[in-house]
Amino acid sequence: MRSLVSLNVVRPRLRLMREAYFVDFALAMQEVVTIPLMVTGGFRRGDVVEEALNSGAADVVGIGRPMCVDVDAPKSLLNGAEELVRYENQLSLFPSYLSFLTKIRVLNSLASFAVQFWYYGQLFELAENGKADSDLSVFQAVKLHMKRESAWLKVRKKLG
Ligand SMILES: Cc1cc2nc3c(=O)[nH]c(=O)nc-3n(C[C@H](O)[C@H](O)[C@H](O)COP(=O)(O)O)c2cc1C
Repeated sequence: MRSLVSLNVVRPRLRLMREAYFVDFALAMQEVVTIPLMVTGGFRRGDVVEEALNSGAADVVGIGRPMCVDVDAPKSLLNGAEELVRYENQLSLFPSYLSFLTKIRVLNSLASFAVQFWYYGQLFELAENGKADSDLSVFQAVKLHMKRESAWLKVRKKLG
């Protein structure tokens, strides 16, 4: 009986933690904070969001990367979509046959920045064209980002 009870408690929490990696930390934070706590990181499924709220781990849940493309992501979950697109699992600077390169630390950092630039690129697409472009490759996103950065630097230099 005891083990059944603990299984019921542990199982949802494990599922929660697997998906939303800050839940563990949030539960510890809840012990000491008296203000509402917003937790962001890894939330992709509606049922996991509900679990985070119902378990008391989070008072508010944040969704980051999916919102750079799917601006209606929370609405989709509220309307019953099972989960959001996990862009993070699809994005890579290197094609799979070159993935061994990420074992080299500096290239791994470069690849992480490149993926982050892809998300920035989506925000620029939203701002400039009103819609994201999920077909943009990570490599294209890096090139665009470098171009934008050099344009900003030129303006900054002019301003002195
Ligand atoms: C375009 C973009 C910009 C971000 N900028 C910041 C930042 O300035 N400070 C920060 O703490 N986290 C930043 N993050 C991280 C997010 O706040 C969030 O912790 C992370 O994306 C994990 O949540 P998610 O799994 O829902 O994406 C950024 C993420 C993205 C995609």
